[in-house]
Amino acid sequence: MKRLLIVAATVAISATTAVAGDLAKEGEKIFMTKKLGNCLACHAVNGKSVNGPGSFGPKLQFLSSWPEQALYDKVYDPYTTNPISAMPAFGKNGLLDDNQIKAVVAFLKTIK
Ligand code: HEC
Repeated sequence: MKRLLIVAATVAISATTAVAGDLAKEGEKIFMTKKLGNCLACHAVNGKSVNGPGSFGPKLQFLSSWPEQALYDKVYDPYTTNPISAMPAFGKNGLLDDNQIKAVVAFLKTIK
């Protein structure tokens, strides 16, 4: 049931492009901010990185071709696709809430 709601919500997001633009901006902020996602600490993206390119996780690219649900799941709990992932489970561990993850996903969808 929860999954269904998430799918419904992500479909709603893609239906409204103007809203998706704002959401992507918010997601980028979460991605770059230490106290929020802090994704940049491990992932180089769009030429930005800390401690040189891709310090720990892979450089993020070509994510625009990923289905939104796959991106959501990856951020929610990376262990579902990679049981030995070194990436924190942002959703499962309550580091980011549902809306924050959706914003991050909107940003990830802009990464070419
Ligand atoms: C502690 C380091 C760390 C942090 C912080 C981190 N990640 Fe990761 N991430 C990884 C590692 C390591 C992998 C590769 C292993 C895997 O796929 O699980 C990965 C993989 C990914 C992938 C799959 C990339 C691909 O090409 O397969 C995505 C998408 C991703 N991370 C997004 C994020 C987002 C968004 C955040 C912030 C909310 C984040 N990560 C924070 C370490 C991290």
